[in-house]
Amino acid sequence: KNILVLHGPNLNLLGKREPEVYGSVTLEEINENLLNLAKESDIKLVAFQSNAEGELIDRIQQAMGDNVDFIIINPAAYTHTSIAMRDALAATRLPFIEVHLSNIFARESFRKESYFSDLALGVISGLGAKGYELALKYALTAR
Ligand code: DQA
Repeated sequence: KNILVLHGPNLNLLGKREPEVYGSVTLEEINENLLNLAKESDIKLVAFQSNAEGELIDRIQQAMGDNVDFIIINPAAYTHTSIAMRDALAATRLPFIEVHLSNIFARESFRKESYFSDLALGVISGLGAKGYELALKYALTAR
């Protein structure tokens, strides 16, 4: 199994960014935890963060050639804006889980719309950094 974890804009600031909303765990800590879990299960996992929409799209497209078979993605603010990232994911036809640290349904109304959720295998929102771990555990048992 080969899993790609994608983090969208501003998630590089986790830990210092509105900790009351996004928690105090850093992105490095999240990735380290995922890498450790993957290692235990003999799974290849690559994590990538970018603040640039095009770079995230390039990574999604690359997943097709890289034999990725599952994507875990927190599109961050692009959740609510990026038809282009949605289209890239649709093109890969890969199963993916959409993760949000915060509960996007309990916040501003503009966060309630996601361009990804109807294509996602499932959505985890509001469980903080744990959400990524739960998504990975699911991905490990899927198919
Ligand atoms: C987020 C929620 C988004 O609305 C926001 O723009 C983010 C992070 C989350 O993980 O809770 O940057 O995706």
